[in-house]
Amino acid sequence: MLVSSFSVFAEPVEIKFSHVVAENTPKGQMALKFKELVEQRLPGEYTVSVFPSSQLFGDNNELAALLLNDVQIVAPSLSKFERYTKKLQVFDLPFLFEDMAAVDRFQQSEEGQKLLNSMNRKGIVGLGYLHNGMKQFSAHAPLSTPADASGKKFRIMASDVIAAQFDAVKAIPVKKPFSEVFTLLQTRAIDGQENTWSNIYSMKFYEVQSHITESNHGVLDYMLVTSNTFWKSLPKDKRDIIKKSLDEAVVLGNEIAAAKEGEDKQAILDSKRSELVSLTAEERQQWVNAMKPVWTKFESQIGKDVIDAAQAANK
Ligand code: LMR
Repeated sequence: MLVSSFSVFAEPVEIKFSHVVAENTPKGQMALKFKELVEQRLPGEYTVSVFPSSQLFGDNNELAALLLNDVQIVAPSLSKFERYTKKLQVFDLPFLFEDMAAVDRFQQSEEGQKLLNSMNRKGIVGLGYLHNGMKQFSAHAPLSTPADASGKKFRIMASDVIAAQFDAVKAIPVKKPFSEVFTLLQTRAIDGQENTWSNIYSMKFYEVQSHITESNHGVLDYMLVTSNTFWKSLPKDKRDIIKKSLDEAVVLGNEIAAAKEGEDKQAILDSKRSELVSLTAEERQQWVNAMKPVWTKFESQIGKDVIDAAQAANK
């Protein structure tokens, strides 16, 4: 019978998951785990195609592509949602979170969970957070104090808060997609950048930067997002299985993120391609003093309640 044969021969629904980092990163591994779990639990019904390294979409178009349903899951860093909500800018405030445990506490708090819905009206559904880690500065020269950064060009993600952070030390922020960073550093079109140990390692930034300052001045984490259109199109029972698979893949991604903070740093140091700059307490305080005024500038956009909740997670 023609009608019943439809389900027998129906093609599985393809879920495209696009991201900009390499496979040997917390996000890269998380995406592959998600694929494995969905295909194991919904065989023949759903497939997950993972596109790493900006192969399908990059920073400039992945969220637009999501809204067009050209891709169904993306996980941009929390710094890249500015066009859709100002509230997530809280994650970019320099020296706000003491460590990743504080970041995690905030994300899991009531206020942090509310932020997953902050873009619903724009058609974007937050499915969860994923860790990468704390950001470090790197450059073609040692950066020990804010004065060392003055006049230097730094690649930044498309975030006005991060731009203000570099303005605060009289540096020149340049917003560029992640896929262009290596070449910009290699050709010396820019002097430096900020990123996690995992991204500095997997993208080989350390091969084209003479120094990395262990500043831990901010966080680089992700929000896993889908579109309202796609999410609502899924039957409830399938959606629950897909969400459960995602949550489990995040657990693995977070474990990898925690391990990589130490491992990738060590691999960079072992390579001897880049020298580590450790800050004294007094030097670090100079960066804090220079950059912290940025908080006030963005307080009304982000909301004092959100900033207070984030700060409370430090205790
Ligand atoms: C960056 O653009 O530096 C990062 O957001 C890349 C990423 O996804 O980790």
